[in-house]
Amino acid sequence: DTSGKVIKCRAAVAWEVGKPLSIEEVEVAPPRAHEVRVKIVATGICGTDDHVLKGSFPNIDYPVIPGHEGAGIVESIGEGVTGVKPGDKVIPLCLPQCGECSSCLNPDANCCLKTHLCEPQNLMPDKTSRFTCKGKQIHHFLWISTFSEYTVMPDSTIARIDAAAPLDKVCLLACGFSTGYGAAINTAKVKPGSTCAIFGLGGVGLSVVIGCKTAGASQIIGIDINKDKFTKAKEVGATECINPRDFRQPIQEVLTEMTGGGVDYSFEVVGDVDTMTAALASCHMGSGTCVVIGVPALGSHIPFDPMLLLTGRTWKGSILGGWKTKDSIPKLVSGYMEKKFNPDVLITHTLPFEKINEGFELLCAGKSIRSILYF
Ligand code: APR
Ligand code: ZN
Ligand code: ZN
Repeated sequence: DTSGKVIKCRAAVAWEVGKPLSIEEVEVAPPRAHEVRVKIVATGICGTDDHVLKGSFPNIDYPVIPGHEGAGIVESIGEGVTGVKPGDKVIPLCLPQCGECSSCLNPDANCCLKTHLCEPQNLMPDKTSRFTCKGKQIHHFLWISTFSEYTVMPDSTIARIDAAAPLDKVCLLACGFSTGYGAAINTAKVKPGSTCAIFGLGGVGLSVVIGCKTAGASQIIGIDINKDKFTKAKEVGATECINPRDFRQPIQEVLTEMTGGGVDYSFEVVGDVDTMTAALASCHMGSGTCVVIGVPALGSHIPFDPMLLLTGRTWKGSILGGWKTKDSIPKLVSGYMEKKFNPDVLITHTLPFEKINEGFELLCAGKSIRSILYF
């Protein structure tokens, strides 16, 4: 029995900006009141983790253990924890649902005020760390640090899931899949028979495609500068795919011509200010909606023609697909178990944890959609 004891295990530590991760033996302290210690079984590699390694993610303190797309099993719980018990299968939540703030109390909002955008999550809420390595304190990431075999998190950032769920698959529901799928279902509320355009066909963009298809869209146009992404996009529901570099005209003009006036819904899943403006301009005048999902470079600003909005387009965005995480992630896992959607197609590589840097290289070279690491 390990409860109440310090656990020594493997973790991937980012000691400083611009360096690859190093696999280290770390000590993980037991959970304190309202905290849970989880044995991570599998974790995906998301673009946001890469932003942390490159120093382009706000409010990070180094050294840090990144990772936020994981699934695991509760090892032990601290005082006052009621939602989970040892042995439960769980998904750590990269966006908390505290249940008490104005966003959590608003049925139409999911951006809990306990998110890292409002206060740093580099230490547990009591401002101490549960990780040490070589005598040094190591920081947490988004309170969940899934690149550690054992990790501690507050009980506001954990959700119990179906005991039969395959953890090496449903870990994708922690971030990438839910973000894209929810953007189509919750944020855009795509209607049957509609026309959609998705800018960027990475893991999140493909999840948008799956969401648009599930919602019954009749025309789903995938847009990417890497044509290698087209086969999979068509496999999951894109009706056609285009490469902006194949056209002389700006891509918004191409889309407007292809669809007789613009799309009903466009999605930006690149994280680039130019594609954000192009996606807005691709919407139909008077009725089109553009959803921004891609994370822009720190400090970005967009100059744009306000006539695009004045003439009746809607510009919006969402974090984690608009899902209230604690309530919704378990339901998404149930949907997966009932085969309502299939995020497995996003998994292009499965690697042992030790090969984590190889996983990042595949992602940065555009060769993987999602790599899953297992401990
Ligand atoms: N036009 C169209 N597609 C582009 C462009 C462009 N100008 N530039 C890049 N792309 C494509 C890339 O070729 C790639 O296929 O966008 C895709 C981005 O995919 P990934 O890098 O795999 O990222 P993903 O995990 O899907 O996340 C996309 O959402 O959550 C955020 O931080 C994440 O900003 C990132 C975005
Ligand atoms: Zn992510
Ligand atoms: Zn909250």
